[in-house]
Formats: sequence, structure tokens, C-alpha cells
Amino acid sequence: MSPETRRVEMTLETKIESMDLGEEVARRVAATAGFDEDERHKICMAVRECLINALQHGNRYDPRKPIGVTFTLLPDRLMVQVRDQGPGFDLAGIPDPLSDEHLLKSSGRGLFLVRCFMDELMVESGRNGGAVVTMIKRYSSNHRGAGESEAEKEKQR
Ligand SMILES: Nc1ncnc2c1ncn2[C@@H]1O[C@H](COP(=O)(O)OP(=O)(O)O)[C@@H](O)[C@H]1O
Ligand SMILES: [Mg+2]
Repeated sequence: MSPETRRVEMTLETKIESMDLGEEVARRVAATAGFDEDERHKICMAVRECLINALQHGNRYDPRKPIGVTFTLLPDRLMVQVRDQGPGFDLAGIPDPLSDEHLLKSSGRGLFLVRCFMDELMVESGRNGGAVVTMIKRYSSNHRGAGESEAEKEKQR
């Protein structure tokens, strides 16, 4: 890992309360990474959708199965990975919620939102099974720079 890479790793329990905790950590990490309020909101919603999926579809509410979350701050982007211990899935097989057949369904929109809110979404199988969902959000051109303080920002003005 290069010196400018920073990482936060955590293990969440498979329970409803973990969703708020995971979202809160995502909010802090996104702020540290220098994302503005709108982008922070989008990142939090995307992370929350993936955590809910890990709880529901992945670990199927089994409290013995943990949910792993890793935030990696890279020089040009934030990468978030959510890992569960479920059956895994293939993004290519997920129906388009905007198709006529699915338009009136209230489920099946989570990953669609993740795609809208983040720059990239990938799904792989973990080494020991389970889904590994990777989301990438690139820093925008007016980005403050990971960890750059408000004072430093002031100095540059
Ligand atoms: N972690 C996961 N493990 C297994 N299947 C998943 C996972 N995340 C998503 N899926 C599959 O992708 C589908 C679409 O997910 P999503 O768009 O969040 O809609 P919803 O959760 O409302 O069904 C789910 O119904 C499920 O079949
Ligand atoms: Mg969902």
C-alpha cells in the first residue's frame, strides 16, 4: 500500500442496528476524504443499500455471520467493499428496475441507486464464498484532498 493510501476496516454484526453504524462510519470517512455534502449523502446511501443487501440477501439475518466493510482512501478515489457470507450473486443477472416488467415493483432499486450514486460497482465472490461488493467514488475536480484540513484550505484561498 502506498504511503498516501489509508484504510478503515470493520466487522459489523448482522443486525438492523449495524446499518446505522455502518452508515455513520461511511459519513466520517467520506468527510475525511474531502467529499462535499451532496457526495457524502450519496456515498452514505450507497453504503447503506449494500449493507442492507448483505444483511437480507447475503447473510439472511443470521447473527453468526459477520459483514465485513473496508474503506480505502486512494489518491484519486474512495473504494468501499462490503463482504458477506451468503450465496453471492451476479450483477448481470439482476433485472433493470426501469423495465416495464419491474417498474411498479418497490423492491429491486437498491443496486440501481448505488450505480447512480457511485462511479463504479462490481460484484465478485469472496475467497471463502459470499459476495464482495466493491463501490468506487472518484474525487471531483474541486475536491479538498484526503485529510486536508479546513485551515490548509483557507491558506490556499
Ligand atoms: N449481498 C447479496 N447477496 C446475494 N444477493 C444479492 C446481494 N445483494 C443483492 N442481491 C441480489 O440482487 C437483487 C437486487 O438487489 P437490490 O437492487 O438491492 O434490490 P432488493 O434488495 O430490493 O431486492 C436482490 O433481490 C438479490 O437477488
Ligand atoms: Mg436491496
